[in-house]
Parts: sequence; C-alpha cells; structure tokens
Amino acid sequence: MGTQPDLSPKSLDKVRPDFIDHRRYTSAEFARLEMERIWTATWHWACREEEIPAIGDYFVYDIGDQSVILVRTATDRVEAFHNVCPHRGRRLLEGTGKINKFHCVFHAWQWDLSGNNIRVLDREQWQGCPDMTDEDVALARVHVDSWAGFLFINMSDDPEPFDKYIQPAPGDLDFLRMEDMRYCWHKAVKVKCNWKVAQEAFMESYHVWGTHPQFLQYNDDKNFSSAQGRHGKHHWVYELPPGSPSRRLGKPPLSVDETRDNYATLQNVFADQLGLGNGDGQFTARSLNAAEEAVRALPEGTPMDKAMEVGFFAMKEAAEADGAYMPMIPMEQLDTIGHDWNIFPNLSVVWGADGTLIFRGRPDPDDPFNPDAAILDMISLLHFGKGKAPGKKTDHIDNWRQQKELIPKLLQQDLGNVEEVQRGMHSIGLRGLRPNPVQEVQISHFHEVINSYLFGEGGREYDE
Ligand code: FES
Ligand SMILES: [Fe+2]
Repeated sequence: MGTQPDLSPKSLDKVRPDFIDHRRYTSAEFARLEMERIWTATWHWACREEEIPAIGDYFVYDIGDQSVILVRTATDRVEAFHNVCPHRGRRLLEGTGKINKFHCVFHAWQWDLSGNNIRVLDREQWQGCPDMTDEDVALARVHVDSWAGFLFINMSDDPEPFDKYIQPAPGDLDFLRMEDMRYCWHKAVKVKCNWKVAQEAFMESYHVWGTHPQFLQYNDDKNFSSAQGRHGKHHWVYELPPGSPSRRLGKPPLSVDETRDNYATLQNVFADQLGLGNGDGQFTARSLNAAEEAVRALPEGTPMDKAMEVGFFAMKEAAEADGAYMPMIPMEQLDTIGHDWNIFPNLSVVWGADGTLIFRGRPDPDDPFNPDAAILDMISLLHFGKGKAPGKKTDHIDNWRQQKELIPKLLQQDLGNVEEVQRGMHSIGLRGLRPNPVQEVQISHFHEVINSYLFGEGGREYDE
C-alpha cells in the first residue's frame, strides 16, 4: 500500500516567487489555521469611521466564526469588544445601530459603552464564587486603531503596534485623504472560492490582457509589483504617454492628436466600466466628465503633457465648485507611488484620483471553515461635494450571475474568473501555481507573509 500524501498545513508551506502550493486554497485544515493565526492575530480592516459617526453607534464585524462589535464611545474614540455575553455566551448584537448601553436579551445583563458591567441580575447569588470579578463579567476587549478612515481590529492579547504594522503604506497613500472619502457603493458578494483567490484578483495587472481587453486600446499594460513590508503594491510603467494603446497590440505610435483623443476617451471608459448608473466608481463622474470635456475641446496637435494638465485642472475646478477635495499626487513620488496597494491580509486599495475602489475577501461567516466560500466586498469611496454623499447602502449579492445589473462591468469580468479558478484548484491535474515573478510579486509575497503568521514569526521579520 502506498503512503498517503502529507496534507498537514505545514506541508503546504512551499512558496517561491515563481511557485505556490495550490492546496493552500482548498485545505480545510489550512483555513482553520488561518482563522487561528491570521484572523485572530493580525490587524485587519473591520469598518469605516463614517459607519459609526455618533457616540453609541455600533457596527458588528463578522470574520469567519468570530464576531466583534465596534462602538463609538467619544467623538474621537472607538472601542471594540468580542460580540459575546460572559454569562452564557449569547451573541449580543448584529448589524449596525445605536445604543446607550449593551443589553443581553437572554437574562438582561448590561454593560456601559466601555464594556464595564452595570448589571448582573441577582448578582448576590454568586457570592463566594470564583471568576465573578468585575473584570470577569466585563465585555472582552478587542484592540482597535484607525488609519485613513478605516477602523482596524486585532483580537490578539498582545498585538504588535498598529503604527508599525501599517508601514509603509501611509507614505504613499495619505495624499488621497481617504479619511474624507465616503461610501458611494458597497457590494457584498458571496463567491464560491477561497478568500485568497478573491483577494488576489486585485493584486496584479498581468490579467488585463486576458480578462479586460477593452482597456488595451487606451492603456499600455506594462507593470510590475513589489513587496512593501507585510504589504505589497503595483506600479504602471509610464514609458508611453497615458492614453496610448498597449505595446503588445503592436500598433504604430499614435500622433499627438490621436493620443489626446484616446486620453479623453479613457475617461469615458472608466465611467462606463467602473461606474454605476451615473459613472461614479473609481473616480467621481464629476471629474471624469470635466476632464473629458476639457481635453476634447483642445485644438488638434495639443501636446500630451498639456492635455493631461488641462484634464487635471478641469477635475480640480469641478471639485472646488462642488466643495470637494481633489488629491494632488506629490510630484517627487510620481514614479514610486503604487497604483494599487494591498494591506495585509485583505485590504486592496485601487485608487483613481478623487476616489478609490476597495476590495476585501474574507471567509464566509455563514460557512467559516469552508475553504471554497468567501465574501468579496467591492466598494467605491469618493470625495463627494459638500452634503452630497449618499450614505452607505450595501447590496448583498448571493448569486452574482443572476444580479449582474448591480455590478460594474469590469468587476463582472473579475468575478467570472474567481470561481473558475477555485474549481481548477481542486483538479488532480494541477501540480502547483506559477505566479509571474515580475508582475505577480504581490501574490507570492502575500503567501510568504501568510507563512510567517502560520509557521514563523508572526510577520515580525517584515518590520523595518
Ligand atoms: S446569556 Fe447574556 S445574560 Fe444570560
Ligand atoms: Fe481585473
């Protein structure tokens, strides 16, 4: 009799810049270990500050089989607690809402907003019992911190300092002032794939040629990606003027005037492919329309750099007229700033100019240890004009193929890959994954960092 292959999580740790063991995506044991050593041990994004703006507002964040309540306890303070009653374990809250104290509906124990117990019904009957100190009957605290309007939690008892963890992302991304952006749309899509497959769909642009060919006429897709501490980023290479077609199309270089028109058309393509309804998506429709109009009005032969400048200032003027902020890329960072960033483990920031798309894959709370089930959050955050943010509305999409009208066209193409990738991961014909060592560095690095949490030093080797 032949010996059974070793499928313990540790045996699945083979990761190189050009190789990843695919069984990391299909093993239930691996998913359990991720729950134990990543989701309950790392900082990760739970909700936005704007979702709990007033004192007493709460947000329940579910990740795998764990649930955490974030509550605003002062104008500038948010606290977080495990969503469980210390009496007999009932979950306390779900969804979002407003409270002035926590109240368990089972036997009516209560806590103030900072989790201190204010009522144990008939407490005297526990007289003399151990494990009934005030601390024992308080809500169990979860660490919380904030960056760029994102509230992060960490369930470990002794988390690494958040300020260290998040580096070096703020140096590149703070100019966007994401803390002032607001939700435009949020799609919470159930996907039949591992959370890592969902996340990785937004970690590289190597797939643009195959998956999004409609962009190639307007966008040269030369790019590379790099590791950044625990995180990663991706860069476009601007060797051709923006608006030029992909070099892989083998077309002759465009004349200045054609390039100008291509650049203007690209604004339109963004609105059509990534916007919903009025075009709001990765950019505000306000910006896209203003830039397109201004650039098309330029005389023939206007040089490309002039067209870009005119487009940008049209966006800025339109933003100012609307009372909105327009980010300015610091010139000294133009060549080094990442065009999208992936904050470990699951916050992808794919920014445009005055808006950004956010992607987050997470194990499905309804089926937490199923490696083939995840929720993919797809979000648009924008710099709205004064008083114009629509407020957060979530579309819960259980069957995206039947609900395509709710999803921007480009993202339908990405969704079309993830479930088919997951099915392929189960094939006995698959011998491992072969990421591109230039354009898919973020993906192999992602797995190296996962290994560090599962089997190594818990990410500490990535500290600067
Ligand atoms: S379980 Fe909460 S008060 Fe009993
Ligand atoms: Fe894509």
